[in-house]
Amino acid sequence: MATESRTHEQSSRWNGRSGQVWVQSQGLLDQVMKPLEELLVQPVIAGSGLRILDVGCGAGATTFAAARRVGAPGSCVGVDISEPMIDAARERAADAGLPVSFLLADAQTYDFEPARFDLIMSRFGVMFFPDPVAAFTNLRAAARPGAALRLLVWRGPQDNPFMTTAERAAAPLLPDLPARVPDAPGQFGFADDQRVHGILTESGWSDIAIRPADVECAMPEDALIHYFTHFGPVGLALPEVDESTRARVIEVVRAAFEPFVRGDQVRYTAACWVIDAHAA
Ligand SMILES: C[S@@+](CC[C@H](N)C(=O)[O-])C[C@H]1O[C@@H](n2cnc3c(N)ncnc32)[C@H](O)[C@@H]1O
Repeated sequence: MATESRTHEQSSRWNGRSGQVWVQSQGLLDQVMKPLEELLVQPVIAGSGLRILDVGCGAGATTFAAARRVGAPGSCVGVDISEPMIDAARERAADAGLPVSFLLADAQTYDFEPARFDLIMSRFGVMFFPDPVAAFTNLRAAARPGAALRLLVWRGPQDNPFMTTAERAAAPLLPDLPARVPDAPGQFGFADDQRVHGILTESGWSDIAIRPADVECAMPEDALIHYFTHFGPVGLALPEVDESTRARVIEVVRAAFEPFVRGDQVRYTAACWVIDAHAA
């Protein structure tokens, strides 16, 4: 697929249903992804006064987390391509009293002020670029020489069975679910660490370290059906199906999640790469 059409696809996705359900479910997502937020912001030394860019910031949970640590004269800018997400982030920022601002823009192409940031970070916001080398070259230009990069991305679907349980269980009932294409923009687009190393090297980043992290996450059991009926390929497909198919999918998929249920909690491991690098 051409880069232009992939850009349009991602923009439509995050300005459409995906963006809206992320905003509606922000409280749940913030809670579920809290351990990943802590892992992401580790390099933000308290009171360091860094200037930080949070890429694909969504509704801003990680931007706020970094801003709470950074101290004067530091600041955090969140950038995202999704208008509903940026609107939600700005609304939350209004009363937060934190040094944050939010920018509605495509991080792959936006003309950032050169050498502006000391740290560029992202939790699951960098796997969607149609042209990752162009995107990370653009971000590199926004980083001051020696600035740090800290990314959290998903490892592969085989390491993240929780994330693919719904689509595997629902496949016989929803035969048109899109296939996961390795290396294509999407949730698992940065699963191949060698490829990611190559992208970052080509984009002018050095001291690249990519290490696996298995992070324990939990959500209330009574949020599970909401979760799989709104997120992922099944969540995207369900609004298009009739009521009886929907009911059957919910029954089959809920049963498939049973191995992850522990009493009133659902527990799973988020298998990620933690990526660190510096602007060369
Ligand atoms: C999986 S969500 C993660 C949101 C947030 N980082 C979090 O952890 O809550 C991915 C985010 O990346 C954003 N995104 C995708 N492509 C982008 C691009 N080219 N420029 C900026 N943001 C982008 C989406 O709009 C979405 O908010």
